[in-house]
Amino acid sequence: MKCAVIGNREHGQVPTSEIAAILNGIDAAVFVIDGDRHILFENKAAEELFGGGLEGENFVRALRHPDCLMAIDSVLGGKRKVQIPVVLTSPVKTTYRLTVTSVPEEDTGGAAAVVSFDDISHISEAEQMRSDFIANVSHELRSPLTALSGFIETLRSSAKDDVAARNRFLDTMKREAHRMNRLIDDLLSLSKVEVNEHVRPTDKVDLPAVIKKVTSGLSPMVEREKKTIRLETPEQRLDPVAGDEDQLTQVFQNLIENALKYGNPDTEVVIGIAEVESRDKLSDRMLAVDIADRGPGIPAKHIPRLTERFYRVDDSRSRDKGGTGLGLAIVKHIVNRHRGRLQIKSEQGVGSTFTVLLPIEG
Ligand SMILES: Nc1ncnc2c1ncn2[C@@H]1O[C@H](COP(=O)(O)OP(=O)(O)O)[C@@H](O)[C@H]1O
Ligand SMILES: [Mg+2]
Repeated sequence: MKCAVIGNREHGQVPTSEIAAILNGIDAAVFVIDGDRHILFENKAAEELFGGGLEGENFVRALRHPDCLMAIDSVLGGKRKVQIPVVLTSPVKTTYRLTVTSVPEEDTGGAAAVVSFDDISHISEAEQMRSDFIANVSHELRSPLTALSGFIETLRSSAKDDVAARNRFLDTMKREAHRMNRLIDDLLSLSKVEVNEHVRPTDKVDLPAVIKKVTSGLSPMVEREKKTIRLETPEQRLDPVAGDEDQLTQVFQNLIENALKYGNPDTEVVIGIAEVESRDKLSDRMLAVDIADRGPGIPAKHIPRLTERFYRVDDSRSRDKGGTGLGLAIVKHIVNRHRGRLQIKSEQGVGSTFTVLLPIEG
């Protein structure tokens, strides 16, 4: 069969050297095959992916993949174009969009089809994330809704004439309704932050003032959670950061609430604000805000995932405390928008410190 290929080459090189150079320049793996599925040409990307020296061989030598071979055969059998997703597991699991296109008959030097593999892993990952997110949101909304429906039924039947039980159920129902409200608020915040994440905020924000406002707003929670908050600010006035005050309020509200929620009772949450030198290119001066709690700490393996949506270390504790699991995801997006950084340090049995670094204005 090799002869057939060589025979075809009498019409000239397939593809011509100019076209071969162009095909070698693209990222997708590309093969040109003849009507008998023999490879006339493979570009550089194809050589890297499937190995070189395949010219003259049957395509099966490059890839023995039933769907792929079927796609090729149907194009060789008369179809103009076939496009299917193909997952290859070697060398690493990758999703490709396989496109087989027929080459119009005249003057092709034997080329019958072009087979190309585009890496679409990033697209399929994004799709996967989107569908996971929708599944998570539905699940998070369904639990309080199920509880509410259950209580409504009970109130209509067995608890109809029991005033004490009725009040208890109504309290729980109120809590569940609040949970749904918080979840929706957080989802809206998240989508709002994502929309303008690439637009850097320009207002001047006095960070110690923002933090003082947040802590005084949280005083009922401080009392409920049996904690104290200590704020450590330097004597001299700190320069403002370039920021969005509402969003920065949200950041510190989330982080301080977490420290209050997850810290042990009768402990202190220490908030330190200081100017630090930065190694970032964007700004050489930054403000660092540390929020340190005394609590169970977070096992190291969870730390890189804490800012994922709905990621919780201890699911039931987070839910008990009314958490949505979205707080740190929102924090991360806001800090990114500010070209800042979020650092998390934690020691099990001792506590955690969340540090937000924000570039100083100007
Ligand atoms: N200060 C902290 N100490 C211990 N665990 C924490 C702390 N802050 C956050 N976490 C863990 O990170 C998870 C995600 O935090 P977050 O996104 O704010 O969600 P939540 O709504 O549960 O507070 C929490 O569920 C908790 O398990
Ligand atoms: Mg939280």
